[in-house]
Amino acid sequence: MRKVFVETYGCQMNEYDTELVKAILAEARYGFTKDELEADVVMLNTCAIREHAHRKIYGRIHDIKYRRSQKHNIAVKDDPVKFGILGCMATNLRTELLENRNLDIDFIAGPDSYKRLPQLISESFGEGAKGFDLTLSEFETYSDIYPRREDGINAWIAVMRGCNNFCTFCVVPYTRGRERSRSLENVVDEARRLADDGFKQITLLGQNVNSYKHEEHDFADLMAAVAQVKGIERVRFTSPHPKDFPDKFLDVMAEYPNICKQIHLPLQSGNDRILELMNRTYTQDEFLKLVDKIRHKIPNISFSTDVIVGFCSETDDEHRDTYEVMKQVEFDSAFIFKYSERKQTIASRKMKDDIPDAIKTERIVELNELQKDISLKKNQEHIGRIEAVIIESLEASKTKDAYFGKADSNKTVIIRKQGETGLEVGDIVHVHIEDASPNVLRGAIK
Ligand code: 5AD
Ligand code: SF4
Repeated sequence: MRKVFVETYGCQMNEYDTELVKAILAEARYGFTKDELEADVVMLNTCAIREHAHRKIYGRIHDIKYRRSQKHNIAVKDDPVKFGILGCMATNLRTELLENRNLDIDFIAGPDSYKRLPQLISESFGEGAKGFDLTLSEFETYSDIYPRREDGINAWIAVMRGCNNFCTFCVVPYTRGRERSRSLENVVDEARRLADDGFKQITLLGQNVNSYKHEEHDFADLMAAVAQVKGIERVRFTSPHPKDFPDKFLDVMAEYPNICKQIHLPLQSGNDRILELMNRTYTQDEFLKLVDKIRHKIPNISFSTDVIVGFCSETDDEHRDTYEVMKQVEFDSAFIFKYSERKQTIASRKMKDDIPDAIKTERIVELNELQKDISLKKNQEHIGRIEAVIIESLEASKTKDAYFGKADSNKTVIIRKQGETGLEVGDIVHVHIEDASPNVLRGAIK
């Protein structure tokens, strides 16, 4: 039996796709190994969203090839191992990957071609041309495959794939193609099976998850249906676009106690001219009104966001607008990125990446400092409360004297041990929050 090693980069969708790939290969009678030096097939499931991703991958391939040759005492070119590139970089850099002789990749498969992997791999062991399949599909949702999941608490379900928004900075529409959704019944069946398999939490996943639409069902219908599955104690979703938050959906979120009161709401910029250049389809005012509406309907909601600094032609004053919006909204946490030009995107074709790196750095530092203070303040608001926490590990990373868990808000909670017995991973406990830092809450079981 041939042994496969897979390493995953990038977003949750890629993690999920690796689980799909493992299911497809297991069905084709491949085995798996966690040791890249012992594998017969090495696959990297890659990301293309931001800078340096490809350089990291090239470096990693050379590193694995070199260490294998040392370990097995053979020349790199005589190693019978096959190397494959999967994921977004495969579609984004197809020509470069195929023509780079230095890398010597044996097969390449884009995000819609994973069912062809057994064939591509077996062809790569034969003589002749390299196998690649980068076609993007309007239909492939992998709804007939039950992924090989490893995490025991949370299970991801990709309910839609692809993106039709064409934000001008973003490569996803090109690497992952058009939006398509699975049927509601099919997703609910999978949720039931996951509950039977002991999963406590389900996270519905999609590049634009709240654009989910299948026949007469929208995302609100889907969330309500999944929340009703017996045994599922928490339902989450990621990543949504601010354009698709109808009242109907917010009402469903408010109504079901097992839908976590947490929304990742990507702002990207707080300035109207930049938002328009990014093709985000909302203004600063519309974003702020949406936040107010959500807080009104779901008072205990917690927000995270994504922000890009230094987008093409962004002035200091325009950057200041982003700062002010973040200050006003007070997100619980924020992921802040420097703009990096991606091949194929509208921005790379029609705009100039003209903000010097030093300025991008200044802007990112400034927003990170602001966010750190806000995150601390938001976390301190939890002190004194009793929160339901799902235990994810019986030992926190820095100490054995604490459990590690997640609150409904998805905040990390470090739970001081008090001699409890019989607690298991996946249990939900009630924790009295005693202390907070910008990144974690601390407390003890009530
Ligand atoms: N440059 C920088 N950040 C980007 N993102 C997406 N594309 C780019 C890019 N070209 C960020 C966005 C998105 C998150 C997943 O990655 O903030 O929400
Ligand atoms: Fe995920 Fe986007 Fe990276 Fe692809 S490019 S792996 S969709 S973050």
